[in-house]
Amino acid sequence: NAMKKFGVPTAEYKVFDDADKAKKYLREKGVPIVVKADGLAAGKGVVIAKTIDEGDSAIDSFMVKKIFGASGDKVIIEDCLEGEEASILVFTDGKTIVPLSSSQDHKRIFDNDKGPNTGGMGAYSPAPVVSLEMFDDIIKKVFRPMIDGFAKQGKLYKGVLYAGIMITQTGPSVLEFNVRFGDPETQAVIPRLRSDLIDIVIASIDDGLEKVNLEWDGRPALCVVCSSKGYPGPYQKHKEIKGLDEIKKMQAVE
Ligand code: GLY
Repeated sequence: NAMKKFGVPTAEYKVFDDADKAKKYLREKGVPIVVKADGLAAGKGVVIAKTIDEGDSAIDSFMVKKIFGASGDKVIIEDCLEGEEASILVFTDGKTIVPLSSSQDHKRIFDNDKGPNTGGMGAYSPAPVVSLEMFDDIIKKVFRPMIDGFAKQGKLYKGVLYAGIMITQTGPSVLEFNVRFGDPETQAVIPRLRSDLIDIVIASIDDGLEKVNLEWDGRPALCVVCSSKGYPGPYQKHKEIKGLDEIKKMQAVE
């Protein structure tokens, strides 16, 4: 709703608190279509339905079976955007915007983008899909209106703001905002940051971002997530992680 109000590009959508009405809309719009639980779901509350049956089953899981509890009280059904996704994180003191380097998160459980979505199986930074022009466009069309819009409402937003962006043929379009760092994107972005993170955090709190210039390591960084077998479904917990000492012996690739 905030995106609509502030003119930020995003997919057309409708919100439902009734499963039957949601299913009717699904049929009106056709597939592919995106069904989202309207609340926290550990990054797993989004289903891209390629058939009406898949859409119905997502609506039932969220709204009737309540697999994510109260997060399924409402669902958002939105148009499926075509393109490649990137994550952009910025720091802001409510006025100045200091962007972090771009990154891309890989959500499917298996190699080659196969299998169900997860909270993220890995990330790299920077994301080549975000050209310099695209990056400027994202700051201008997404973050600036959002942060200014909140400020005008007397709700100064300070800290990290994360936007999941679909890079479409017609420009950037927002898939989601998070009012936090990205996981696993942050593990790929922050190691490349040469400036002191704490100084940036303090400058965000103290309205001092205007004076901050970030320095970056030009080398790309990659993060790979290892998960217990079965994830993102039920999986065995409390397994010991072995071999971490071996990491110290590894050489950085120049
Ligand atoms: N990687 C997705 C997220 O942090 O929400």
